[in-house]
Amino acid sequence: MPSLNDIRSTFLNYFDRNGHRIVESSPLVPRNDPTLMFANSGMVQFKNCFTGVEQRDYVRATSAQKCVRAGGKHNDLDNVGYTARHHTFFEMLGNFSFGDYFKSEAIPFAWELLTREFGIPKENLLVTVYHTDDEAADMWKKVAGLTDDRIIRIATDDNFWRMGPTGPCGPCTEIFFDHGDKIWGGPPGSADEDGDRFIEIWNLVFMQNEQHADGSLTPLPKQSIDTGMGLERIGALLQGKHDNYDTDLMRSLIEASAHATSTDPDGPGKMHHRVIADHLRSTSFLIADGVMPSNEGRGYVLRRIMRRAMRHANQLGTQDPVMHRLVPALVRQMGAAYPELSRAQALVEETLRLEETRFRQTLDRGLKLLDDELSKIPEGSDLPGTAAFKLYDTFGFPLDLTQDALREKGRAVDTEGFDAAMAEQKAKARASWSGSGETKDAAIWFDLAETHGATEFLGYDTETAEGQVLAVVAEGAEVAKATTGQSVQIILNQTPFYAESGGQVGDEGVLRTATGNARITDTKKSQGLFIHMAEVTEGEVATSQGATLTVDHARRAAIRANHSATHLLHEALRRALGDHVAQRGSLNAPDRLRFDFSHGQAVSAAELAQVEAEVNSYIRQNTPVDTRIMTPDDARALGAQALFGEKYGDEVRVVSMGALDGSGKGADGRTYSLELCGGTHVGRLGEIGLFVLLGDSASSAGVRRIEALTGEGALAYLKEQMGNLAEVSAVLKATPAELATRAKALLDDRRKLENEVAQLRRELAMGGSASGPEAKEINGIKLISQVLTGVSGKDLPGLIDEMKARLGSGAVVLIADTGAKPAVAAGVTADLTDRLSAVELVKAAAIALGGKGGGGRPDMAQAGGVDIGSADAAISAIESILEGK
Ligand code: ALA
Repeated sequence: MPSLNDIRSTFLNYFDRNGHRIVESSPLVPRNDPTLMFANSGMVQFKNCFTGVEQRDYVRATSAQKCVRAGGKHNDLDNVGYTARHHTFFEMLGNFSFGDYFKSEAIPFAWELLTREFGIPKENLLVTVYHTDDEAADMWKKVAGLTDDRIIRIATDDNFWRMGPTGPCGPCTEIFFDHGDKIWGGPPGSADEDGDRFIEIWNLVFMQNEQHADGSLTPLPKQSIDTGMGLERIGALLQGKHDNYDTDLMRSLIEASAHATSTDPDGPGKMHHRVIADHLRSTSFLIADGVMPSNEGRGYVLRRIMRRAMRHANQLGTQDPVMHRLVPALVRQMGAAYPELSRAQALVEETLRLEETRFRQTLDRGLKLLDDELSKIPEGSDLPGTAAFKLYDTFGFPLDLTQDALREKGRAVDTEGFDAAMAEQKAKARASWSGSGETKDAAIWFDLAETHGATEFLGYDTETAEGQVLAVVAEGAEVAKATTGQSVQIILNQTPFYAESGGQVGDEGVLRTATGNARITDTKKSQGLFIHMAEVTEGEVATSQGATLTVDHARRAAIRANHSATHLLHEALRRALGDHVAQRGSLNAPDRLRFDFSHGQAVSAAELAQVEAEVNSYIRQNTPVDTRIMTPDDARALGAQALFGEKYGDEVRVVSMGALDGSGKGADGRTYSLELCGGTHVGRLGEIGLFVLLGDSASSAGVRRIEALTGEGALAYLKEQMGNLAEVSAVLKATPAELATRAKALLDDRRKLENEVAQLRRELAMGGSASGPEAKEINGIKLISQVLTGVSGKDLPGLIDEMKARLGSGAVVLIADTGAKPAVAAGVTADLTDRLSAVELVKAAAIALGGKGGGGRPDMAQAGGVDIGSADAAISAIESILEGK
């Protein structure tokens, strides 16, 4: 009996042999389609190949595509567990032709694979075709020898396949397997078609049109082929089962669930195991593809599926989290075909464990409330919407979980009442917001957020994605469109652009629609909306358009490196300086990073060097950066550092970096840095490249600031420094290693020369002789008065002191002829200061020199003059003062 893994390989190998490229499944979150929540068929990743927008180096492809149908248009969630063929996650096998072959080859390929490779008896097969498609009908007759009664013409959309409201589409032919009359049911198109006798196994779409938003249908540039076969269905068939959950793969998951809960896989809890097996697949694959549980968008769909499974696990009587214990069984089954699942195993397990631990805290109380409410209302009537809303709001029960729980009891929820309760809560939030004093222009974001919900951020995993333009805002008001030259703000349903927060600057890049382009100059956040600051550079951008958003990659890569380096820096500082180091602010821009932290004194050069070396050693360690979502309490319990200024909601991202060498010093004993952070980070630490500290300075009282560079910026900085050094080396004719000695020697020489110059000046001032100028005696007071050239005002006091010492007793007046304004200083020895004041002398000299003022102490005073030509007059003025004493 072939396993599901064998069947997948047989399919892919068959088309490989027939010239098809085996293409990996695309991630579950579509990057190229804003209208789809999750990939829901194999053709999603090839959408643009059909429309001719994208060319690849192959024209035939085959794939096994991961699909999720649990949210949006295709939603199978409610039926999972209760039917034989509904799944939230399934694999779609397909073969594709992009303008290469068409019907006449697609039909023979399908027939040969089913009847020869898979060995399905021809008598059990029949097909449907679109009612006008004679060509397909003829082909089936010719290739398969099917008689008219086994080629059923269907006039409805069942045989005209559309991806969604827009996109490539075309008539299709579906292949059915007939289980024979022992099972009830009628052929497709008949009144009893819903029975289980005739099961559709493969859909071949003849892609020939494109559906547009305005309802029009245009021909595709080339006719193409898209086919889809659910692996679980064909698997059941080839394994002789009637129920997809009886296939080997699903059965092994069901048995893992039974084992983990110590229950019988086929006992009364059978249906619970089926739900768990299915939901284990969808949740694990979604987490592996980057979706994290949240209360918005895709993250909420994931949470709904997870919690639904968790309630079923609880129904099996387990008290402890179960789901994460089943992940190894899933990885064993599917990890080889989908390596991303193996890679993400630890993340998947931890995400499931944390979610289940958390949900179990309210689950029992919620279920009790549900029972209490049910006991209050008459038998058979619906649960009031207010009760369902309370379960949602207080106990974290998604509405469909409550509905699922009630379904077992044959009850339903008053969904109108639920919606009314939800609307009332929103109205209250609005009322309290209006009173909160927020600025008026924020009102438009509040309104838009209420209408459209929060923007979904895709930028953790991608830098290019499509989004739908939900609103264009110009000067505070919504407009239908913006044209070239206009600066507007644009809101989309999803975006890869990071909005400024947590110190990380907003992204820049471009937005393109079918009718125009805009440059995004910044991205900000308000009320959960990502606001793209846009300048329309070409044509026009209008609401409801699909847009391709491309983040400036180089800029974002530099920002990422700086942001991750900030985390490493934070931890290195804590280790070097102590646990009191806490973040007080940060900036993660493309060209630099800045980190403010609490610390009372300057960081020494040795400490800085240690920090820098440690950060670089973790960069070289090049371990992957890991991100997990958890509650703030769980994150703190783990020891994560909370960033300053972030507002934490119900969930936080915990970013971990660096593996400790078993020293056990990390917050969790294994990880170097653990921080709560919503920013974007490098995939591996090596991407930071290099870390260079620019130094430490004071930011405010008790807060230091460090600036640093990473990657290319750091390298450019070092190169510049080396260039400067080389220049200095050339000037000093020394190698860089000799520079310090050489510079020291030069400074010593200079100091020596300065001393010599001072000595010479002094000698010069003293009249060129060691004994100095002659003193005059006036009124018994010895006076030296002299005009000096080649000295400045600031040299005078030293000279005065020296001359005073030489005189023993007397007065000294020196006038410096500086070439510009003269300076004058006077000195009086201490024994004479009660008779004579240096201040008096200097003032008289200054007046004579055309200056005014002057000041100092009785033994030493200084002043400035204007005219050196009056130097003699100044000296005379001083002599007259002495004569008057
Ligand atoms: N895209 C087609 C389907 O999903 C094959 O059925």
